[in-house]
Amino acid sequence: MLAEELEISDWRISYGRSELEYEIDGDYAHVQAINAEPKGCGIGTLLCQKFEDIAKSEGCKVIEVPVSLTSEALCFWRAMGYELRNKSDQRKMKRIIETDMMPRDDPQGVIVMQKRLAG
Ligand SMILES: CC(C)(COP(=O)(O)OP(=O)(O)OC[C@H]1O[C@@H](n2cnc3c(N)ncnc32)[C@H](O)[C@@H]1OP(=O)(O)O)[C@@H](O)C(=O)NCCC(=O)NCCS
Repeated sequence: MLAEELEISDWRISYGRSELEYEIDGDYAHVQAINAEPKGCGIGTLLCQKFEDIAKSEGCKVIEVPVSLTSEALCFWRAMGYELRNKSDQRKMKRIIETDMMPRDDPQGVIVMQKRLAG
């Protein structure tokens, strides 16, 4: 990709100014935060794929992500193959993606998305 290398610790994967913070907890792996800079160049995908490799090698069965209520974040995680943990969030997600607006009644909220790891 670029000349920069991935730097990996037991809680963070970084690539230049971009990073993904995570926590492994038994069967579960959690994304605490992700930030890609510059956006739209595949860096988020790179960080996510590396994190999934780590989660698999740690024997995790599920990855969970508390996703910010923005169209950008929801579309990114959906593109990475993540699904809603609670199907009842379907309408909320659709509304955020269609309007690109955070719900006024839940400005600090998140929608939990998850991916089951094969194997
Ligand atoms: C969300 C974020 C990490 C994505 O990283 P990125 O490097 O820009 O994403 P990528 O370039 O790897 O995109 C992968 C796919 O995600 C989807 N995607 C990414 N940004 C999107 C956007 N703004 N709108 C719609 N879909 C988007 C696309 O399907 C994209 O594939 P494509 O390029 O083939 O169309 C980045 O935009 C970011 O740091 N945002 C600010 C912080 C944030 O919201 N973090 C998430 C908190 S849960």
